[in-house]
Amino acid sequence: KKERTLAMIKPDAITKVGDIIQLIYEANLIVTKAKMTKLTWKQAADFYTEHQSKSFFNNLLQFVTSGPVIAMELMGDEAVSVWRKLLGPTDSGVARKEAATSLRAQFGTDGTRNGAHGSDSLASAARELEFFFPSTTGHGPSNTA
Ligand code: CMP
Repeated sequence: KKERTLAMIKPDAITKVGDIIQLIYEANLIVTKAKMTKLTWKQAADFYTEHQSKSFFNNLLQFVTSGPVIAMELMGDEAVSVWRKLLGPTDSGVARKEAATSLRAQFGTDGTRNGAHGSDSLASAARELEFFFPSTTGHGPSNTA
């Protein structure tokens, strides 16, 4: 089933965007939207609102606001699970042991600085895509590739 998902390259992997996009295409996904931005604290808290009560929330916000991120809409068959599989385990340290070829193993750092994010469900994908690529009208070129 053709799906759309949200991928976000985090500040620790921003110089690896070339490698990451190559892996995306090799997995038969395509990049249909992309945006580089630096999140404010409030934007990051909004994006990660489901984690607001977690012990790692402040560390997570500190990290994702520490530099630019690149958000992308990926499209393809089973895009949500295909992208999550490419990412590998959440903790890059675990990923290096259990999924050495995964993106978080190769380009992430540790449990918080893990290189990239992927929506965990179709519902999350819809919310997260709307966060980075709001479907509002406006002037200038549209971002519907
Ligand atoms: P992500 O897939 O973007 O979703 C939530 C993020 O919180 C996760 O990647 C990590 O960056 C961070 N995170 C998740 N679990 C932990 C944890 N146990 N300790 C520290 N950071 C975490």
